[in-house]
Amino acid sequence: MRVGVIGAGRIGRMHARFIMENPEVKELVVADADAGRAEAVAKEVGGEARQIEETVSSGLDAVVIAASTSAHAGLVGMCLDAGLPTFCEKPVAAGYEETVGIARRVESSGTVLQVGFMRRFDPGYVEARRLISSGSVGTIYSIRLATHDYEPPPESYIPTSGGVFRDMHVHDFDALRFLTGGEVEEVYATGSVRKFPMFEKHSDVDTSAIMLTMADGVVAVATGTRQNALGYDVRTEVIGSDANLAIGFDSRVALRSTEPNHILAEKPGWSGFPERFEVAYRAEMDHFLRLATGEAENPCTARDSLEALRVAMAADLSRKERRPVKMEEIR
Ligand SMILES: NC(=O)c1ccc[n+]([C@@H]2O[C@H](COP(=O)([O-])OP(=O)(O)OC[C@H]3O[C@@H](n4cnc5c(N)ncnc54)[C@H](O)[C@@H]3O)[C@@H](O)[C@H]2O)c1
Repeated sequence: MRVGVIGAGRIGRMHARFIMENPEVKELVVADADAGRAEAVAKEVGGEARQIEETVSSGLDAVVIAASTSAHAGLVGMCLDAGLPTFCEKPVAAGYEETVGIARRVESSGTVLQVGFMRRFDPGYVEARRLISSGSVGTIYSIRLATHDYEPPPESYIPTSGGVFRDMHVHDFDALRFLTGGEVEEVYATGSVRKFPMFEKHSDVDTSAIMLTMADGVVAVATGTRQNALGYDVRTEVIGSDANLAIGFDSRVALRSTEPNHILAEKPGWSGFPERFEVAYRAEMDHFLRLATGEAENPCTARDSLEALRVAMAADLSRKERRPVKMEEIR
């Protein structure tokens, strides 16, 4: 296969490496608005650097978009016009209207677009979904999700991130839909600045909580912090009538038990998302290449991205207006 990567930053570099490790891939083209970055990544992984337009028009078998969020909608449009099977990092677009436009365009184009919600490929989440859909958990009562960054992002990242609900908790919102197969009906969100005043400067928070009621009555709570001294920490618990499940409780879990006979290993926590989700990112890229050749189904569509974005928008509105928001308000 001949594959392109557009956007050679943190995550584009990682995708480029995993693509080159796939035995089906014979050629990799790397492009970036900053030609120097494209060249550096191409050199590092054994690919070739080209201009963006040249990359899109060079008859590739598949393209991965990992550029900054503000560039996604335009780049996805170019790739769809060229009829290229496309992977786009989350979110497919910065705003609601653009995301709706892309979802409609993909659905009428016959071209595939996979979106990068990597938890859908994490072994813990995949097994939990299998157990839930097999009926082993029984009736789900509630779900607890926790997402804690190790270090806060640099201040320059905050105004372009879209805020904590769109940037960080959007993964929790997608995971909730992925695990249960259901939709969120109502959202109540709150947040505060506990330690890093830079978030306040940009109307954002470093500490957040969201209560989500699903259409079938399942109650979920997501909590988040932008810093956690013990490591990057993503966990989910599913509480059911027949079993409780714990995702992310492994030997690296960033928790210290206060019990004398605890069973938690005292290993260092994860350094960040690239390490915690490496297995998932690899599986995600391998899956996309099989999707591009027609051997696999699309595991995460533009519609999925739109629904996760709508929940994040409901959380923004809820925090702003200090009230529960019905999902039907977000259109
Ligand atoms: N799924 C995940 O877990 C995950 C994790 C991190 C980032 N992301 C997403 O990946 C995207 C990139 O994030 P990052 O952390 O790698 O950012 P980054 O800033 O490290 O890299 C972005 C790259 O895009 C390039 N770029 C900007 N505009 C461009 C354009 N018009 N055309 C081509 N290249 C362009 C920049 O020069 C830069 O090299 C973001 O949309 C982010 O939301 C997803």
